[in-house]
Amino acid sequence: MSTLTQKLKETVDYIKKEFTTEVGVGIILGSGLGNFIDEVTIEKEIPYAAIPHFPISTVKGHGGKLIFGTLDNKKVIVMSGRFHFYEGYATQQVTYPIRVMKQLGIHTVLLSNAAGSVNTTHKVGDLMIINDHISFFTPNPLLGPNDEELGPRFPDMTEPYSKELINKAIEIAKKENIEVKQGVYVGVTGPTFETKAEYHLIKAIGGDVVGMSTVQETIVAIHGGMRVFAMSVVTDLGIREDDNVITHEEVLQAAKEAEPKFSLIFKELVKAI
Ligand code: HPA
Repeated sequence: MSTLTQKLKETVDYIKKEFTTEVGVGIILGSGLGNFIDEVTIEKEIPYAAIPHFPISTVKGHGGKLIFGTLDNKKVIVMSGRFHFYEGYATQQVTYPIRVMKQLGIHTVLLSNAAGSVNTTHKVGDLMIINDHISFFTPNPLLGPNDEELGPRFPDMTEPYSKELINKAIEIAKKENIEVKQGVYVGVTGPTFETKAEYHLIKAIGGDVVGMSTVQETIVAIHGGMRVFAMSVVTDLGIREDDNVITHEEVLQAAKEAEPKFSLIFKELVKAI
């Protein structure tokens, strides 16, 4: 047993002692999208700080918690607060909760994030289903010895985002009369927002949006054989005529405003899974 599998066992044993649950879908809420939790009938909340081997939050007042509950009778585990590489966590820490979800028996994860757009057809507040990603700007979380118990050495990445779930989400959006875009998410480390030249580079290499999360979680989920669906909320435009002054507050505000339509799609998607 590797150190990682030993740690995972201790984490999962603790969680199962706290809450015996059937498993369903794992959900990670991005910046400004926390209100999704109102859709969930909460059965149990475990603060990250109480969970053995969970990364220790460095941000004051943002401890985060793992929430167990149901959404229209479907079992869900929601991470309220995620770990970002820019906070100083190792990639293995950033993705540890995905490993834990897998060990709890979760087969499908829904990821969300706030992102900057370089696609000039996008506007602030748009939802974009991620149909592919570029992770070359962030360290790969699978670097290092591979534990065959957790997944293969060389995972295939031809379709990291489940086509079936993408199609379901598109159907839901149509039915609910919500406009959704589709495109490529480029993962970066942050914490700086991009320079104008960097936004142009991201566009030139085929990106539609750029953000500081998601890609490492997706890689680990695919490594573990899970299905992934991911959606970005466009919170700022990297390429535009006027000056690119982007603030965290503006990002949070834009995500908050788009949150109801985001929540509706995630909710209906959970029901449909
Ligand atoms: N760049 C990177 N990450 C982001 C952005 C951005 O413009 N907006 C929200 N997260």
